[in-house]
Amino acid sequence: MAAPHAPHAPLIAPSILSADFARLADEVAAVGDADWLHVDVMDNHFVPNLTLGLPVVESLLRVTDIPMDCHLMIERPDKWAPPYAEAGAHNVTFHAEATDNPVAVARDIRAAGAKAGLAIKPGTPLEPYLEILREFDTLLVMSVEPGFGGQKFIGEVLPKVGTARRLVDAGELTILIEIDGGVNDDTIEAAAEAGVDCFVAGSAVYSAGDPAAAVRSLRQQAAAAAKHLTL
Ligand code: DX5
Ligand code: ZN
Repeated sequence: MAAPHAPHAPLIAPSILSADFARLADEVAAVGDADWLHVDVMDNHFVPNLTLGLPVVESLLRVTDIPMDCHLMIERPDKWAPPYAEAGAHNVTFHAEATDNPVAVARDIRAAGAKAGLAIKPGTPLEPYLEILREFDTLLVMSVEPGFGGQKFIGEVLPKVGTARRLVDAGELTILIEIDGGVNDDTIEAAAEAGVDCFVAGSAVYSAGDPAAAVRSLRQQAAAAAKHLTL
């Protein structure tokens, strides 16, 4: 049966978490044909790791035109998320587990001019959030525990992708479905078949000799796999 979805080519979002932080502008330039640039903001509270914050995002926005996909793994997104939208991020994603009022945060992000994304950890069910997803532009399904790059892909999250895919294809939601963690040559096909639109890849891109070629290769593999969706 023909795939009902994927009106667009798969989006590849390299994660600069796996880049050389001392050469960030060069590392961003090295993935010049990326669809989104994925920037992992960690506060050492929501996750046990500390990365970068708004000043670095502002600097990166000055050196690239790639739409910036900010993934906030932080507490208090109500307070800290809107400034990323005001700074010019394309998409600002925060975690469902980090707030009691995700709708208010999404509305603030949208009012500040960015797309709003909701992220869920591998162990977080999707069902409680289905009702509010119309307030969002992106659903980020984590396929590793948030906090570190280079972890193994957790395939058990893919039914959540399938659920969201069916709702989008039925016209009940208009969100992009993003997957983050452990995406590489071995795992992207399964994610694409489940219905992912946007694939975050950190180590698979930045450990490659040619990061731009790695982006193109991942995009091709995702596009080929999406042609035979298992839905
Ligand atoms: C992990 C981050 C991911 C990470 C992915 O918490 O959200 O974006 O950079 O890295 P890989 O692709 O190496 O799993
Ligand atoms: Zn991320």
